[in-house]
Amino acid sequence: MTRILMVCLGNICRSPLAEGILRKRIDEAGLTNVEVDSAGTSGWHEGEHPDHRSVHNARRHDVDISTLVSRKFSVADFERFDRIYVMDSSNYRDVTALAKNEIHLAKVDFLLNCKWPGKNMAVPDPYYSGAEGFETVFHLVNEACLALVGSLQKENAGD
Ligand code: 4NP
Repeated sequence: MTRILMVCLGNICRSPLAEGILRKRIDEAGLTNVEVDSAGTSGWHEGEHPDHRSVHNARRHDVDISTLVSRKFSVADFERFDRIYVMDSSNYRDVTALAKNEIHLAKVDFLLNCKWPGKNMAVPDPYYSGAEGFETVFHLVNEACLALVGSLQKENAGD
């Protein structure tokens, strides 16, 4: 089993979308041994469903994130998850600041490095943008998730 956690600031725009897209691409690929979750570094929106703009945009692409619920990232997530993908450098700083050891630290990476390795590119925060910001986020995250599923499939074949 591989456990993957997506992390952003509020856990209402980018990381729930990343969770929904990755779940869908995993299903489509027929992978069964992957678990996906998401969390926010802030906890500002704890208990809330994703932002309606993110829900709406995802639905246009046939991804349903409407039932997900925001929660705050916690130190325990370093034990529960094998990989922790952050959306931007501020998420990276906030998450890695909580790491207790090198093993925890090694689990954290930028999501877009799955598609564009080593570039540490950000998934731009769409919270204060218009609808086009959410569409940009969808495409960036989708590309990364497709690449991630490709690497998970390869790892499976090697098992
Ligand atoms: P997210 O977007 O980190 O992609 O969920 C944001 C959500 C809420 C806020 C900022 C970014 N906020 O300031 O409340």
